[in-house]
Amino acid sequence: MGVKMRYIEDDLKNKTILITGGAGFIGSNLAFYFQENHPDAKVVILDSFRSGETLSNGNLKSFGHFKNLIGFKGEIISGDINDKDLLLDLEINYDFDYIFHEAAISDTTAQEQDLMIKTNVNAYKDLLELALKHNANMIYASSAATYGNAESPQRVGREAPNNVYGFSKLSMDHLSREYMKDAQISIVGLRYFNVYGAREYFKNTTASMVLQFGHQILAGKKPRLFEGSDKILRDFIYIEDVIQANVKAMHPKKSGIYNVGTGKARSFQSIVDILQKELGTSLKCEYIPNPFIGSYQFHTEANIETTRELLNYTPAYDMEDGIAAYVDEIKRIYEEEVK
Ligand SMILES: NC(=O)c1ccc[n+]([C@@H]2O[C@H](COP(=O)([O-])OP(=O)(O)OC[C@H]3O[C@@H](n4cnc5c(N)ncnc54)[C@H](O)[C@@H]3O)[C@@H](O)[C@H]2O)c1
Repeated sequence: MGVKMRYIEDDLKNKTILITGGAGFIGSNLAFYFQENHPDAKVVILDSFRSGETLSNGNLKSFGHFKNLIGFKGEIISGDINDKDLLLDLEINYDFDYIFHEAAISDTTAQEQDLMIKTNVNAYKDLLELALKHNANMIYASSAATYGNAESPQRVGREAPNNVYGFSKLSMDHLSREYMKDAQISIVGLRYFNVYGAREYFKNTTASMVLQFGHQILAGKKPRLFEGSDKILRDFIYIEDVIQANVKAMHPKKSGIYNVGTGKARSFQSIVDILQKELGTSLKCEYIPNPFIGSYQFHTEANIETTRELLNYTPAYDMEDGIAAYVDEIKRIYEEEVK
C-alpha cells in the first residue's frame, strides 16, 4: 500500500524533509511517498501522537497513531509543535530543506478556541520562522473549512468560515501572505477539501464518511445518512491526489494559497451508492436529523484553475475511481481493527 507514482524529477538526494503531523492520516501518507519514491531523502516526523487526552466534544486531542507508521524507516520525534524548546532544538540540530506542516487540531467540531488558535495558528508562525532560518520551502495544510457556506465553486479570496477550525486555517493563510511578501522561500497553503483514503482509520469518528459508511455496510448495518443527503454535496478527494498536490507544491510557480479538490461536488448519498456497488450490497439507508446545522457545509466544490496552472496539479481520481482504489483497504481495516 502506498503512492507508487513519482510526481517530481528530482531524486531529493541529501535533502531533509520535516513532516509535522506525520503520524496522522495525510502526514503518514506523505512519509511513505518519500520513502518509496525518493529513498535518498531523509524524512523526519514530528507528531504529538495520541495520549488519551480528550476535548470537550469527547474526541481525542490528537489522533497520531504508531500503526500509521509501521514500515516507516525514518526518524520519529514525539513532541508538541507548541513546545518552543523543541522547535529551538530542531532549529539547531537539523537543516531542513522542506517542511510539510500537517500537524493541527484537525477536528472541525472542536470547541476549544484557545487551544485551536494556539496550535493551528501560533505554532505555525514558529514553524514559518524555522523555515526561514533553514531556507526551507514550506507547504502547509489549510482547509476548505475556510469557506464555510460561501458560494460554490469556492475560490480563494471568498472565505466565510463557520467554525473555529475554519477560522484558524484562514488565519494561517493571512499570516502566510504576510510572510510571502519578502520571504526567499516558497510558501504554499493547500486547502484540502474532504480527503479520504488509507491511514485515516485512527481519526475515529472524524475519519471520512467513505470509511465510516464502508464499515457500516461491511457490518451489515443500514448506512446512516443525514436527512437530505442527496442534496448535501462536497468535493471528496482521494489521498493520492492530495499527495500529488503536496509534492508539486515543493516548487510552485508562485507562492500562494491553493484549493485541492477534484473540482466536482458529489453527494453523501452517492458515496453510499458507490460503496454498495463495490461491496455487492443493497442495504436500505436510514436517515437521521443533522445535529450540526449552523456550522455545517452543505455544498463545497473547489475551483482548481490556479492549482492546475501554478502547481501543475491534475486530479486523477473521481469518486468512483477513488473508492474503487480504496475498497480493499476499507475491508482490511474492517477485518483487522473493527471486527
Ligand atoms: N483530512 C481532511 O479531509 C482535511 C481537510 C482539510 C484540511 N486538513 C488538514 O490537513 C492536516 C492533516 O490532517 P489529517 O486528516 O491527516 O488529520 P490527523 O488528525 O490524522 O493528522 C494531524 C496530526 O497532527 C498531530 N498533532 C495534533 N496536534 C499536534 C501538536 N500540538 N503537535 C504535534 N502534532 C500534533 C496529530 O497527532 C495527528 O497525527 C491538518 O492540518 C488538517 O487540519 C485535513
